[in-house]
Amino acid sequence: MEVGGGVRYHMDWGMKNRMSRIINPETGRCVMLAVDHGYFQGPTTGLRNLGKTVNPLLPYADAVMITAGALKNWIDPTMNKPVVLRVSGGNSMELPDELSDEIITTNMEDAIRMNASAVTCSVYVGSPHQRQTIENLAKIVNEGNKYGIPVLAVTAVGRRLSQEGGKDAKDMVRNERYLGLASRICVEVGAHMVKTYYCEEFEKVVEACGNVPVVIAGGKKIDEIDALKMAKNAVSAGARGVDMGRNIFQSDCPVGMIKATRAIVHDNATVDHAYEIYLEEKARSSGR
Ligand code: R5P
Repeated sequence: MEVGGGVRYHMDWGMKNRMSRIINPETGRCVMLAVDHGYFQGPTTGLRNLGKTVNPLLPYADAVMITAGALKNWIDPTMNKPVVLRVSGGNSMELPDELSDEIITTNMEDAIRMNASAVTCSVYVGSPHQRQTIENLAKIVNEGNKYGIPVLAVTAVGRRLSQEGGKDAKDMVRNERYLGLASRICVEVGAHMVKTYYCEEFEKVVEACGNVPVVIAGGKKIDEIDALKMAKNAVSAGARGVDMGRNIFQSDCPVGMIKATRAIVHDNATVDHAYEIYLEEKARSSGR
């Protein structure tokens, strides 16, 4: 695969084929819909009936990030979107201090049986179980390389780090120093894609990841216009797209938001134009 910087990045055919199902080869970008939140948040807002929320969004997503259980319960197997299967878990919102205490929950054979196009796990840099989560990543990277399954590493922030930061917690982890550190560690372990949060000077995070594609999470629900600005800033800084959840499925018009996000990611739309797309869809759907 010819990738940034003129460097030839060697992957076997299956790996390349799966990557190209997720990252559109025509635009080099991706709109991934993240709906894996239940693995530690339970029936979170918007995903109690996951199928009802997600199925109408699938036509506009390039890939869906989801757990094995949610896939089997709520998604029709005739659906033809690539699955990025979350294979880590073991934590919950009931033990917020130990969010980083993750294990691998789904093995590679199961992922292959479910026709996963990629697998994903979280890495908690700076948290009590940092080493364990890096080990989880290393394990699935090694197995992924064996079977040609790419791995998306998610840089997750444990509760302890946030608590120690007090009111400055967000500043401690929403900066290029922390996110660059966490993302680069994932790259060094061999992740094929990295998902992280957007921050100022995001181009430095992208640069730190070399040829490995970087996508951004949306984070907590914010105003639609602000989420679209964030997506625009991220792709302008070199992100290959988004892996967004709450800012799509918790919107008052989820279809409008995913269409607007697509326009930014794949068509280089301006924020104003994308916001118009969202408003038009919202007006259309409320008039039904
Ligand atoms: C964590 O719960 C998951 O990895 C989510 O997929 C990730 O946080 C992205 O979702 P959101 O855009 O809602 O932050």
